[in-house]
Parts: sequence; structure tokens; C-alpha cells
Amino acid sequence: MINPLCPICGKPLTTEKPAWECENNHSFDVARQGYVNLLPVTQKHSLHPGDTAAMVTARRDFLNAGYYAPIAQKLCELIAAFAPLSESILDAGCGEGYYLSQLDAKERWGVDISKDAVRSSAAREKDARFLVATAAHLPFPDSAFDCVLSMFALTVAAEFARVLKDGGIFMQVLAGERHLSALKSIIYPTLLEKQKDLHPALDGFTLLHEETLAFGFILETQEMVQNLLYMTPHLWRISKEGADALAKVSRLSDRAEVVFNVYGRQKR
Ligand SMILES: C[S@@+](CC[C@H](N)C(=O)[O-])C[C@H]1O[C@@H](n2cnc3c(N)ncnc32)[C@H](O)[C@@H]1O
Ligand SMILES: [Zn+2]
Repeated sequence: MINPLCPICGKPLTTEKPAWECENNHSFDVARQGYVNLLPVTQKHSLHPGDTAAMVTARRDFLNAGYYAPIAQKLCELIAAFAPLSESILDAGCGEGYYLSQLDAKERWGVDISKDAVRSSAAREKDARFLVATAAHLPFPDSAFDCVLSMFALTVAAEFARVLKDGGIFMQVLAGERHLSALKSIIYPTLLEKQKDLHPALDGFTLLHEETLAFGFILETQEMVQNLLYMTPHLWRISKEGADALAKVSRLSDRAEVVFNVYGRQKR
């Protein structure tokens, strides 16, 4: 069993209801839905960090409709190929738990900085454990996990390397250059593509495998089109004109292009 650590003093927490406690009497309530908020104010950079309730609901409705099922399937395949004996998996930036809920391991932990996301994850999946925490300071001991995932979320290589066992796997899933190009062409009519490094070198890791998955999908309602927008970082960047143009779209044929990078934790 992985024993989470107090985010304030780093000592192990007792994990019993109604509150988790460390030997220094720092105490964290277990919420009714079963998750625990381990994000101290000092690690919070805003009042409600991470995805908002509206974004979480949009992502849940979009993912539950199955449009990204090929991504979940590829994730399962790659874990079966590269980390078949994983007993412990951490999903860092787990959102509302769609991907973690489809994986199989003795211990599954999800962390997200958004309380709304974690609440939604805990409601979806009773057999996994969810924490409000930042991926920048994971409340877990060194060498705790066999596998860490970051699905369209941030990568904190040093922290992921710390909590992984030697030989453990870090699965990084990123949006490719042409991911959602139909959506982008509507909201940014004169888009200047920024080239980003899709296979970054990460300290402490060896890139074992890279693969790009592409597939088409069709959204048939304006509501689903808005759900898609709300799942993406474009929501933060969209202009008034872009939002107005998208509000008129009730059918969108688009294409997902998703990069899977499988990294192996080097020996310490
Ligand atoms: C684009 S969403 C992806 C969610 C989920 N992995 C998925 O693919 O459905 C990114 C997630 O990262 C979370 N996040 C942002 N900053 C974070 C941090 N410092 N630590 C943990 N999670 C964070 C957000 O709240 C959001 O749920
Ligand atoms: Zn403590």
C-alpha cells in the first residue's frame, strides 16, 4: 500500500476516516465523495486552481460520449506492452477520471489541482483513490509507483522521476500539431502554428517509444462542439470573434492527433 505524505511536513499520513493525520497533527478531512484535499494554501496559486466546474462537466460529457475511446484503448495497449506488471498507477492531472477508470492495477491514484475535477473523478470511480494536489509537489514517497500518466496535462519530470520506481514508466500524452485542426480553423482564422517539441528529452528518463494516433470524429450538436472547446486550452485564448463563429457551428467533423511518449525511469 502506498502511504500518502503530509503536504505540509512530509510525514506519513494515517489514512482513516474522518480525517487523515500526520504525527504533527496536520489534519485533512475525507470528503463525502471519498477524496481528500491535500493542497495547502501555500501551493495554491489562485482561489480555484485548475479546471473549473464548467470545464469538468464539459469534459465528462464529451468523454462519456465515447469520442476519445481510441485514446483510452491505445493507452491500455501501451501500458500492457511497456508496463504489464504495474501494480500502482498515478494519473497526474487526472481531470474527471475517464482514463484512470479504464486501467487495471492493484492501486490506482489520481491527483488534480482542481477540486471540481477530483470530486467528479471520485464519483466516477469508487475503487481508485483521488487527491486534490499539485503535480509539482506530489504527496507520495520516493519510488512509490510503477507507472505515472500525464494525459493532456502538465509534465513535472523531476517530481515524476522521484515518485517512480527504477525502471518505472512515465506515459506522456500530448496534443499533436494538427490535433483538432477543424476547431482551430474556425476559432483562429489566421493561425500561426507554434512548433513545440513533441518528444521532449526529460532528465532521469529514457524515451522508449513514441507513437502518434490519429482518428476522425463528428460532433452533431452545438452543445458537443462547446464541450470540445471547454476541454481544450483554446478556451483561454479564444477571441470574441472566434467564440461567435463557433457558436454558429452545429456540426463539426474534426480529427484528433495525439502523441504518446513512453519514458522509462533510469536507474538511480
Ligand atoms: C486538459 S486537462 C486533462 C484532464 C485529463 N487528464 C483528461 O485528459 O481528461 C488538464 C488537467 O490538469 C489539471 N492541472 C492543472 N495544473 C495542475 C497541477 N499543477 N497539478 C495537478 N493538476 C493540474 C487541470 O485541473 C485539468 O484537470
Ligand atoms: Zn504534517
